[in-house]
Amino acid sequence: MQNMIEVQRLSKVFTLHNQGGIQLPVLQGISFSAQAGECTALFGDSGSGKSTLLRSLYANYLPSAGSIHIRHRGAMVELTAAPNRQVLEIRRETIGYVSQFLRVIPRVPTLEVVMQPLRERGVSETQARQRAGALLERLHIPSRLWSLPPGTFSGGEQQRVNIARGFAADYPILLLDEPTASLDRGNAQVVIELVREVLANGVAVVGIFHDAEARAALANRIFNVNSRPDPRGAEAAGDRSPA
Ligand SMILES: Nc1ncnc2c1ncn2[C@@H]1O[C@H](COP(=O)(O)OP(=O)(O)OP(=O)(O)O)[C@@H](O)[C@H]1O
Ligand SMILES: [Mg+2]
Repeated sequence: MQNMIEVQRLSKVFTLHNQGGIQLPVLQGISFSAQAGECTALFGDSGSGKSTLLRSLYANYLPSAGSIHIRHRGAMVELTAAPNRQVLEIRRETIGYVSQFLRVIPRVPTLEVVMQPLRERGVSETQARQRAGALLERLHIPSRLWSLPPGTFSGGEQQRVNIARGFAADYPILLLDEPTASLDRGNAQVVIELVREVLANGVAVVGIFHDAEARAALANRIFNVNSRPDPRGAEAAGDRSPA
């Protein structure tokens, strides 16, 4: 099994500069790894730092201590020391990230939003259009909406556009922050199938799944982010096979 992510003794302390410099320790000495073809589910209380950890893996947040190694172009790269140019290259080629909410770019039509990661990788216009359309169709976004910017879409529609965008390119690593959170059962099931497909292709998935059903369907391992694990949460500590 090939390690795609190695996190060692990672800590994150937020300093609230506009609150008199109050220090907020969120992650404390976290270590875990994620393997190709496996889904690692981050588990923990609200506010325990799951999204913070995912953002750190995407180099949105700089850790206070510890290291994050990412397999990129065949070698392990220390993300926290990578220059900006390399971070952008890693985001273009190696790591996909589906954030909890779509960051809407004004006036850009939905189909273009989904095609953008493919364009960045030099995929032809025709292929990009086909792939983006196929994903939007699977996620039940009606084609009459494809030419509209997603800014006025419903929460669930925006989330599905966000998911289509995240799955458009074949990244070796995919980070998912509550991808099924505001979806109906049918669409949540489509997302579960999409994740299963990328896992079968050897992608390393790290995800936060609020929904226990999605977690049970996908997680190969569960990593507990709580700094003091809840003794009742025994299942949260061990490895599990997908259901
Ligand atoms: N940019 C930031 N500046 C200051 N504090 C932050 C920042 N981002 C996150 N935090 C704090 O870090 C803590 C962890 O937040 P995070 O969003 O990682 O939690 P979470 O485990 O994803 O919770 P949830 O399950 O509710 O999504 C929270 O107390 C939050 O207020
Ligand atoms: Mg979160």
